[in-house]
Amino acid sequence: NSTQDTLIIGKKVIYLPTCHSTNDIAAEIVHAGLFEEGTVVITDNQVKGRGQRGTAWNANAGENLTFSVVLTPRFLPIQEQFLISQVTALAIRAYLGSYVPDTKVKWPNDIYMNNRKAVGVLIENSLQGTRYSTSIVGIGVNINQAVFENNHATSLARETGSAFSLAEEFHKLLKYLDAYYVRLRSGFQNDAIRNEYLSHLYGYQQDVKFIHKGNLTKGSVTDVTQLGKIRIKLATEPEELEFGLKEIEWVK
Ligand code: BTN
Repeated sequence: NSTQDTLIIGKKVIYLPTCHSTNDIAAEIVHAGLFEEGTVVITDNQVKGRGQRGTAWNANAGENLTFSVVLTPRFLPIQEQFLISQVTALAIRAYLGSYVPDTKVKWPNDIYMNNRKAVGVLIENSLQGTRYSTSIVGIGVNINQAVFENNHATSLARETGSAFSLAEEFHKLLKYLDAYYVRLRSGFQNDAIRNEYLSHLYGYQQDVKFIHKGNLTKGSVTDVTQLGKIRIKLATEPEELEFGLKEIEWVK
């Protein structure tokens, strides 16, 4: 099972009808040495999907895309690791943006369509010395799911009113992921990637609300650092502040 029209991502695709978490299966495949760069593990029924900040990722069986890509970005110094998040988010955004114009990246790498979350990404890196050995990029895209437990989530079908072939959408998305990763590997696009990320970022140079230390806080996003921290100019303070993943939570 593979796709021939990409350079790296999806040359080898491992399909499992059901599994716990594709990120965990990808990690097992890496440990067993059974992968090449770009190997993808995909399932129709992920029963124990993991999300950021230790949350669970629930996706209805057979309705959505849940898969993980194994990358070996040895060319990337570890302090530049946020670029992997950035190219992943940009690729998925460009793919969904081809259907729905209002598709934004919400820091660090969630994708929102018409202000509702349609995609979650969980990237897990392992290092060898000061370089990457592997980066497992886990992606969950809501494609055909029509009913959601909360009103802040959505799917491609819900935003467009049509149903989609999962196989076709999977191959389209792999092409976007491959093209952006090839750009990153070229080594001379890093600034362009960072600028493109900012241009699609929720709250960039706009008023946003978030929770910080338990308080509702207002500000506008001014930048994202090389290490992936978000810089926000608070409404109440003259200085911009930097926040890591555990320090802020967006208000929905
Ligand atoms: C989040 O928004 O919190 C991230 C969700 C990431 C979900 C994907 S689905 C495929 C891969 N396998 C997992 O267990 N998680 C990721």
